[in-house]
This record gives sequence, structure tokens and C-alpha cells, in this order.
Amino acid sequence: MSTHPVIPRRPPAPPEPPPVSLTIDGQQVDVPAGTTLLDACHRQQIDTPTLCYSDVLEPAAACRVCVVEVEGSRTLVPSCARKVEDGMVVQTNSERVRHSRRMVLELLGSSVDMSYASSEIIDWTQRYEADPDRYGEAARTVEQPAKIDNALYMRDYSRCITCYKCVDACGEQAQNTFAITVAGRGFEAGVSTEYDVALGDSACVFCGNCIAVCPTGAIMFSSEHQLREEGLWDEDVQEVTRTVCSFCGVGCNLELHVQDNRIVKVTSPQDHEVTSGHLCIKGRFGYDYVQNLPDPMTTPIDDVLAAARASGRDGGPTR
Ligand code: SF4
Ligand code: SF4
Ligand code: FES
Repeated sequence: MSTHPVIPRRPPAPPEPPPVSLTIDGQQVDVPAGTTLLDACHRQQIDTPTLCYSDVLEPAAACRVCVVEVEGSRTLVPSCARKVEDGMVVQTNSERVRHSRRMVLELLGSSVDMSYASSEIIDWTQRYEADPDRYGEAARTVEQPAKIDNALYMRDYSRCITCYKCVDACGEQAQNTFAITVAGRGFEAGVSTEYDVALGDSACVFCGNCIAVCPTGAIMFSSEHQLREEGLWDEDVQEVTRTVCSFCGVGCNLELHVQDNRIVKVTSPQDHEVTSGHLCIKGRFGYDYVQNLPDPMTTPIDDVLAAARASGRDGGPTR
């Protein structure tokens, strides 16, 4: 009798569920089951604004700027979180949808400084004719000084829209460090460390994954922040070079953002299978050795600022 163990056969993969058929803005669309309405819109080349959504995080559905109208639904639904269903009839550009998106962009823009927000967000604000200024100075409810409690990055929560992306990236969806969360309620709600201690006294490991997902520049490399403050940040002249991190053997891809021959920040591509856009402190901030500082007493930020000042830029546009 054979003593070889019997290796059970792997069960066959379950059959693919049939595609889902729905109507978006009058067009019939067939998409795989499980697709979100946002993805279905993207497949139709329908530009849909998003603030709290990220390709690498679970939807928090916190901002409601991506809402669409679904026939039979009493309220507008967040397209980033709602899955398609057979027979759905969806409107993405009705007066009700446009009005709601405009209100979200106006209310956030009235209370938060959005001047460093991504160019996409600025474009949506214009496209939906949002006018945050009509609420006046009194609406600037989250105004507060920037927190600069380490040399690597700064936190300016007067730019924070409480989208939860940094909290999710710091927590179980990427970093598993749980150094930050949203504390307080209502107008007082904001991102905080435990007991609001300085970042260096918190559980933070300075991976910078919160910076990578922040849509408004509320958390930012110190180098970028200081260049922006002096009007020397210039994305038009920056080159982005993709390379592989040399600190260990994992193979994380890095994108080096270079201005005036100096690295001014480091990101990782969200579609990279190793990182999904996330890095550790070495890949994110450990690039000083590349830059051959002219004098051992020069800090990397001094060097970046000196190179930018020498470029002849004189406080022009920071975006
Ligand atoms: S740097 Fe990393 S550990 Fe620190 S708060 Fe940000 S995501 Fe969390
Ligand atoms: S700091 Fe940035 S990522 Fe975090 S909640 Fe505020 S806007 Fe969102
Ligand atoms: S992007 Fe969908 S709710 Fe924020």
C-alpha cells in the first residue's frame, strides 16, 4: 500500500459572475459585477470629482463630492463607494448633482485653505462654478498655525478637509502604525496624534505615507513647504525620475522630484505592485547622501533653498 500522502485537488475557480448592465447619462453600459459607480463612470470617460477617494484605500465616503443621482434613490449616492446593480439608471450631470458638488466644493473651500490643493481640485472648483469666498472670512473655521515639529515634513491643518485618507494610510490600510486619528466632533473635528502630542513623541515612524495621500497639502515635505512659502516651488521645471530604492532588497520604486538639480520630494507610483504608493522612512526621506552637500554644516533644506534662490526665481507662482 502506498504511503504517499494524498494531495487534495484544488477546487475549480468559481465561474465569473455575469456582467452588470446599467444606464449612465442615457448610455447603456456593461461592467463587471462589483465595479463601483465611479469606476463605471471612468470607463465612460466621465470626469467625476473626488476628494476623499484614493485608488489605494477603501472608500471612506466622507466628502460627498462624487455624488450621482440614481433613479429610485431618495438621496444622492457617493459613486466612489456604491457598487453597480443591474438595471440602475444613473445621472451624473443633472442640476441636482451639479448643485450638490458645487456646495461641497464651496463649503470646504470657504472653511479650509485650498490654495495648495491638486490642480484637479482647482479645476473642479472652477468647472462647478464654486465660489467659496461668498461665505466671507468668518467661515474660515479651521484656521490655525502650521505644526512644524520635525525636519522632514510639516502639518498645516488649516488646509485639512478631514478626508480621513492620512488616517487610513497610517492605520490598517497601509502602515499599521495608528499614530494619527480624527479627534473632536463637529467643527472641532481634526486630525491629531494621541493626546495631541508632538509627532516625535507619538507612535509615528515617519514613513510619510500620510503625505502621499493628502489631497490638499495639509501634510507636506518640509522642502516643498519652504519652497512654496518663498514662492520658489515650480512644478513646471521639475523632472520626475523613476528608480529603485537601494536601501534594501524589496524593490520599491521611487519617483525623485528634482528641481534645480536637487531632490525636493520623493513619491512612489500608486500602481506599483510592491508599494501601492507607500514607502518607509528610508525610501521617502533618506536621499541626502545623493546630493553631495557642499559643506558638512549645510542642511539638505538649506541646500535646496539655496539652489532654488540661485535659479533666479523671485517669488512667482507656487503651483
Ligand atoms: S508618517 Fe507614517 S506613521 Fe507617521 S503619521 Fe504619517 S502615515 Fe503615520
Ligand atoms: S491631513 Fe490631508 S489626508 Fe489627512 S484628513 Fe486632512 S486633508 Fe485628508
Ligand atoms: S470621493 Fe466619494 S465621498 Fe469623497
